[in-house]
Amino acid sequence: MKLLGLSGSPAKKSSSRTLSAVDKALSFAKAYDETVHARSINIRDLDVQFCDGRDPALYGGDTKEVIDQITDADAIIFGTPVYRGSYTGILKNVFDIIPNNVLVGKPVGIVVTGSTQHHYLAIEHGIKPLLGFFHAHALPGGVYAHSNHYAENVLVNEDILERLDQLAKALVDFTKLIPADRNILVGASGPVIPWESLLKGSHSP
Ligand SMILES: Cc1cc2nc3c(=O)[nH]c(=O)nc-3n(C[C@H](O)[C@H](O)[C@H](O)COP(=O)(O)O)c2cc1C
Repeated sequence: MKLLGLSGSPAKKSSSRTLSAVDKALSFAKAYDETVHARSINIRDLDVQFCDGRDPALYGGDTKEVIDQITDADAIIFGTPVYRGSYTGILKNVFDIIPNNVLVGKPVGIVVTGSTQHHYLAIEHGIKPLLGFFHAHALPGGVYAHSNHYAENVLVNEDILERLDQLAKALVDFTKLIPADRNILVGASGPVIPWESLLKGSHSP
């Protein structure tokens, strides 16, 4: 099982609370099931281009790498800090870049960090609707951690660690239940939305 953790914090790897929570969840998943091959991507460390409306197949380099990893994954954990009550711009950019169909029927776990408890509902109001557009299977229970759960950017709160473990195990179990053809069991398709470049009749960036 290919499990991808994608963390959308613009903070450095060494200081990102979000990345450390995502990585913790990945390690719980690996400990739970030895068939799990986990990889984490800290978007900030890659040279991901801004979405400019081109056909996603025309991106190269790190942008293509991120698209390919998302496409290839059997399940994904998306992590983001709360910025102004929602997900970060660099994570949104990834959602702007990926093809419309790559998350269809894909099991997804959500990990969010904030500075206080106030923005717990960013999971429900920010991230889940976006995943809904993509017809992904977002696990109902995401994990929200805030500053008090960390000591020197190390996640120490036992409740949050337990929740990350629950999230990881549920994601692994759920992924096994998903049929090989992920297009079934997702309900009605959305409208076909052409890329901006195709609408303009131009395939070049
Ligand atoms: C521009 C900006 C906006 C933020 N907005 C919020 C917010 O609306 N609510 C909140 O709880 N925390 C907010 N925070 C705090 C971060 O969400 C919090 O520190 C998070 O854990 C940082 O994660 P990271 O270490 O992975 O970057 C904001 C931080 C920044 C830099």
